[in-house]
Amino acid sequence: MKHDTLAPYYSELGRLKFSPGWARPEPSMWPAPQPKFKPAVWRFAAARAALDQASEFVPVEQAERRNLIMVNPIEGNLYATTRNLVAAYQCVKGGETARTHRHTPAALRLVLEAKPGTFTVVNGARVEMLPGDVVLTPSWSWHGHLNETDQTSFWIDFLDIPFVQLTEAMFFEPYPGGGLEPITSSGATPFRIPSAQALGSGRDAKLVEIAKGIMPTIALHLMRQPAGSRVDTPKTTTNNIYAVISGEARFTAEGGLAETLAPGDVIAVPCWHAHAVEAPHDTTILRVSDAPLLEKLGLARAATH
Ligand SMILES: [Fe+2]
Repeated sequence: MKHDTLAPYYSELGRLKFSPGWARPEPSMWPAPQPKFKPAVWRFAAARAALDQASEFVPVEQAERRNLIMVNPIEGNLYATTRNLVAAYQCVKGGETARTHRHTPAALRLVLEAKPGTFTVVNGARVEMLPGDVVLTPSWSWHGHLNETDQTSFWIDFLDIPFVQLTEAMFFEPYPGGGLEPITSSGATPFRIPSAQALGSGRDAKLVEIAKGIMPTIALHLMRQPAGSRVDTPKTTTNNIYAVISGEARFTAEGGLAETLAPGDVIAVPCWHAHAVEAPHDTTILRVSDAPLLEKLGLARAATH
């Protein structure tokens, strides 16, 4: 048959909801990862100023939604920071409550600015939020926030929402009756990890995994880099997001990105991008990745050359 006489055949295939495997418009497999996501940087100073403005017109009833999502700047993306994770800057003003809810996506926060008296209630436990703390709310745990101080608190949220959306296993539930869940316990909790304590004293280079096994989709690593040090990371299938806790970090990533990050700044480094972190001063960094997800699925790989 000549091609022009095949038009009715192909339109019939379409009507039958078939696509011919021999004439696909784009391939479905390729030799090595071709990530659509890009390395990108977000600045806390810019977020802080924009959130301060938002505080004037986003009401207290929407405090839990007063956040700025770090949207990876690729065509068609409206939400995700990397393929499986999303990060956002959030603020809760002094005296405000962010109502309790729970959802199947797992979440964590890195606290940037908060005075004693800002806390998250996780399954009834009062979990303090102080600068440098990592606060966890694993999948389906109740959580709400309260800021009893006279100053706005700022933090970075990280969640696996893009992955949960992909699986369609999304559930969300507001706390019965609304408001904040009552506090039933306080004190030490596995849901709060102060980064300085986890890294210990000294200024030697260190990479410490925290909260191991608590969230099946997310790995958390604290990195300590002394002044003058450099850490190189090869191409792997892991998607990384880094947030600077203290000091200053110079990131270079395949594709030409070279940026210096201050405390609170964030960089997304999608999979299959070799990258390096140089520390001009003593620096601590939180790395948030989807490594456990890829490992569990047998998809964790590194470049062999
Ligand atoms: Fe939440």
